[in-house]
Amino acid sequence: MADEWPNSGIDLHLELDVAEGLRTGLERALREAVRSGRLATGTRLPATRRLAEDLGLARGTVRAAYDQLIAEGYLAARQGSGTVVALPPQAASMPSAAPAAVEQPRHDLRPGGADASAFPVAAWLESSRRALRSAPADAFGYGDPRGRPELRAALAGYLGRARGVSAHPDSIVITNGYLHGLTLLATVIGGTFAMEDPGVPTHREAVRRIGARVIPLPVDDLGARTDLLTGLDADAVEVTPAHQYPTGPPLHPDRRRALLDWAGLSGGLIVENDYDAEFRYDRKPVGALQGVAPDHVAYLGTTSKTLGAALRIGWMVLPPRLVAPVADARLHADHHTEHLGQLALADLINRHGYDRHIRTSRQRYLRRRDQLRRRLAGFPIALTGIAAGLHALALLPPGGPSESDVRTAAQAHGLALGYLSERTELPCTRQGVIIGYGRPPDHAYASALDALTATFAGAQQLAKHVKR
Ligand SMILES: Cc1ncc(COP(=O)(O)O)c(C=O)c1O
Repeated sequence: MADEWPNSGIDLHLELDVAEGLRTGLERALREAVRSGRLATGTRLPATRRLAEDLGLARGTVRAAYDQLIAEGYLAARQGSGTVVALPPQAASMPSAAPAAVEQPRHDLRPGGADASAFPVAAWLESSRRALRSAPADAFGYGDPRGRPELRAALAGYLGRARGVSAHPDSIVITNGYLHGLTLLATVIGGTFAMEDPGVPTHREAVRRIGARVIPLPVDDLGARTDLLTGLDADAVEVTPAHQYPTGPPLHPDRRRALLDWAGLSGGLIVENDYDAEFRYDRKPVGALQGVAPDHVAYLGTTSKTLGAALRIGWMVLPPRLVAPVADARLHADHHTEHLGQLALADLINRHGYDRHIRTSRQRYLRRRDQLRRRLAGFPIALTGIAAGLHALALLPPGGPSESDVRTAAQAHGLALGYLSERTELPCTRQGVIIGYGRPPDHAYASALDALTATFAGAQQLAKHVKR
């Protein structure tokens, strides 16, 4: 007989076909739910009294159905834990076209990621607990599309002091990360976006999917060619002025001036992507462009590099004219970013736990950057963009290994890297390998560097072989 578990508390949706009787219908529905995997092995079923009430059946009917399925092996009666599902779902009923699992590389030196294993779990837990305890009741309901006032106030202070941003809490909109902010701006502004090339292909594609036009803005050793903007007829221009992605230089002062002149004359919007501003090693920090032209710049930042991309929390500091339209677009898309993470982040910033975590991370990434530089010193490559950020660009000189040689050698060593040609839509004039040193946990970094040096050595061999 089924155990009388007091009340398992689970809701159970069952489609009852009672043509052959109530008990048979219930047995059939339970059997089907177990077979299909809708009820996973180990799931505790509701007590017979509860299920009988929910389905409008007699308790004896439910008990009899449970007993039958226990006899058939679908369910099991467990002392102290009621009736549980005993059978794994049948393979035949599993969906046949399950998505292929994403293959994890053995060594991951792709750019764009931070060390997820370094997430400050204890500090976040403490901030979350404190934030939840003191959260006002309205934090648990719908709120301002711009985000929680606590976080907007904390960010106004932090961005002003750490990045030279001129931010009032009213002009800040909390987003689900940089990409989300960019798509909101594309929704509101539409028209044509000039975007740095090389840049992030996903970002270009996202803007195009909104229906805006994307034109490439070339990049050279001084950063984005903002001197070309006057001829481009753009409504907005997206730049990474503190650390061009992926080539590395800060935007040259002449180019900063050209950009600001363009915005002043055309009324166009500068979208400032400050994605990894916190990580500067041996060069002076470059203050945010927004600080000198708050009416022309939408400043966008993110926690993806500082805490981890899993949080999906970012921010925009907007020119006043864009605040209402962006908030309106947000409201009609998804109301706002979830509140509880925002409250935890506000607490972390206010108690300087965010600064402390960034300082520790900066030391870690600096150490890794130096190790990388030492390990690649003997190779005929030009390692650039290493003064800041979480990645470096190894330019491959003509006559040496090509990107394709490196890719072939990397595959042999189970190593994932980024490649310059994949990040550009313009004719490729340079070949380069983008090496992200953020992603691996500390314990895996040394072996990733071994794989990297073996890859460059292998690529050299391949290049020599082809030339002979
Ligand atoms: C250039 C650039 N911008 C922005 C981001 C962060 O985007 P998000 O905040 O959407 O995670 C990244 C992350 O890889 C990046 O490489």
